[in-house]
Amino acid sequence: MQRFYIETVGCQMNVLDSELAYSGLVQSGLVPTTDRYNADVILFNTCSVRQHAEDKIYSALGRLKYWKMLKPYGVLGVIGCMAQKDQQTIFQRAPHVDLVLGPGQLELLPETVHQLLDEKLQRNYSGQMLESGRKLLVSLKRLEHRHSEVVDSFRLFDPVRHSESRTNRFQAMVRVMFGCDKFCTYCIVPSVRGPEQSRPPREILDEIRGLVSQGVVDATLIGQTVNSYRYRENGKTTRLSDLLYHASEIEGLKRISFVTNYPRGMDDELLQAVRDLPKVSKHLHIPAQSGSDSVLHRMKRNYTSAEYRELVDRIHATIPNVSMTCDLIVGFCGETDEEFRKTVELVEYCRFKNSFIFKYSERPNTKSAELYPDNIPESVKKTRNNLLLEIQDKISLERNHLFIGKTVEILVEGMSKQLGDKRVQLSGRTWCDRIVVFESADDRLVGQFLKLKIYDAAPFTLFGKTLN
Ligand code: 5AD
Ligand code: SF4
Repeated sequence: MQRFYIETVGCQMNVLDSELAYSGLVQSGLVPTTDRYNADVILFNTCSVRQHAEDKIYSALGRLKYWKMLKPYGVLGVIGCMAQKDQQTIFQRAPHVDLVLGPGQLELLPETVHQLLDEKLQRNYSGQMLESGRKLLVSLKRLEHRHSEVVDSFRLFDPVRHSESRTNRFQAMVRVMFGCDKFCTYCIVPSVRGPEQSRPPREILDEIRGLVSQGVVDATLIGQTVNSYRYRENGKTTRLSDLLYHASEIEGLKRISFVTNYPRGMDDELLQAVRDLPKVSKHLHIPAQSGSDSVLHRMKRNYTSAEYRELVDRIHATIPNVSMTCDLIVGFCGETDEEFRKTVELVEYCRFKNSFIFKYSERPNTKSAELYPDNIPESVKKTRNNLLLEIQDKISLERNHLFIGKTVEILVEGMSKQLGDKRVQLSGRTWCDRIVVFESADDRLVGQFLKLKIYDAAPFTLFGKTLN
C-alpha cells in the first residue's frame, strides 16, 4: 500500500486543485495520509503570488532532504503555480525533488506519480543506484508561443471528485473558468495559470448535480476573474448570470456563491441575478487593489477610483443587505503617502465587510518588475498595511455591531470548539458571508440551515443563540 500526502498553500483555486489531485491519486490506487513522514509520495501544491509563499515552500522542501534519505524510493513533487513559474530551477534549488508539474498538467499527475514510483522500485530491485529519473511537466510560456498552442497546453481537468477530498461534505467549489487575461502589472497569475478558458455550461451544471447527489448543498463557482465567464455555443453566449439562473434550478442545491470578480464587467444582469435568485449568496468579493488613480494606472487595472465607487453604489442600490469584500495592495512601486491616503479614503467610503490587505511583492517577468522599481521600504509597507488593517477592522466591527439583536439564517459549517462533554461551539455563515459562532449540544446541525439571534459581535465574528 502506497500513501500520499498533499500540502496546499494559496488561493481557492489551489485548494480545488488539491482536491482534484487527491481524487485522481485515490482512483489510481494510492491511499491518502495526513502524516507526511509516513507517506511514500509528498506533494506541495504551491503559490507564486507573493515571494513569501515561495520562500516558505523552498525551506519546507529543504527540510524534506532527510525524509528522502530515509525513503529513497519516495516521490517528492512540486505542483501548482510555483512549478509552472520556476520549472528547472526547482530541481536546481532542491535536487531531491522528483516531479515538477504545473497547474495545466494536473490530469497527468496520477500516471506520472506511478511511473516515478515504479521506476524507483525497479532500480531498487536491480541494485542500481537510486538516481531518480526526474519529471518536468509544464505548460507553454505565454509570450513564446501562439495563443492556441498555449491554450492547448493548459489542459482543463475537473474530474468527478471524492467527497473525502473536501474538508466539508456539504460544501464544494466548482471551477467555471481557468486562467486570466487581465495582466495587471504586478501579477504572476496570467503567466502561471495561462489564458482564460471558460468551461462548457453543461459540464459545470452536471458537475454541480453530481456534487449535490453526494450531499453538497452549498457550491462556490470559482475563477480568477469569474465574472469574465463566457461560453459561446451554437450562436448563443452563456455568461455568469445565466449560469446562476441555471444552477439555481438544481434541486437540492441550497446556496451558490462565486469568486473572484474583476471590477469591470459587474454588469446589471449579474447584480440583478444576485438580487433575484434566493439561492445566491448576497456577498460580492471585488478586489479594488488601490484607491489612487495613478496607482491603478500603474497597475493597469483599467478603472478609476471614482468608477469603483460608482460600482459600489450601484451594488448597494441594487442588492439589499449585500456585503462586499476587497483585496488591496499597499506599497506598490512608487506609492506616495498621498496615493496611499486615497486607498484609505476608498476603504472609508466603501465600508467593506472586510478586506484582504497585501504588501506589494515584486514578481519576476511581470510588467511592474520591468517598468517600475520596487522602491517602497519594507517598513513603510508594513506601517501602511497595519494602518489600513486598523481602519478596516474598526469598520468591520461597526458593521457587525448592527447585527446585534437581529435574527440571521446561517448554514452550519462545522465545529469551531469543543466546550465540554456534551457542548460544542459550532460555526456557520450568513447569506452575506458573515461567520457566526454559537453553542449547541447537537453537532448533527452541520450542513443544515438554522436561524440564530445575534447577541454580540467582533470584527470577524458574530455570536448567536439558537431560537427556542
Ligand atoms: N504582491 C502583492 N499582492 C499581490 N496580489 C497579487 N499579486 C500580488 C503581488 N505581486 C494580491 C492581489 C490579488 C490577491 C489574490 O493577491 O490583491 O487580488
Ligand atoms: Fe492577477 Fe489581475 Fe488576473 Fe486578478 S485580474 S489574477 S490580479 S492579473
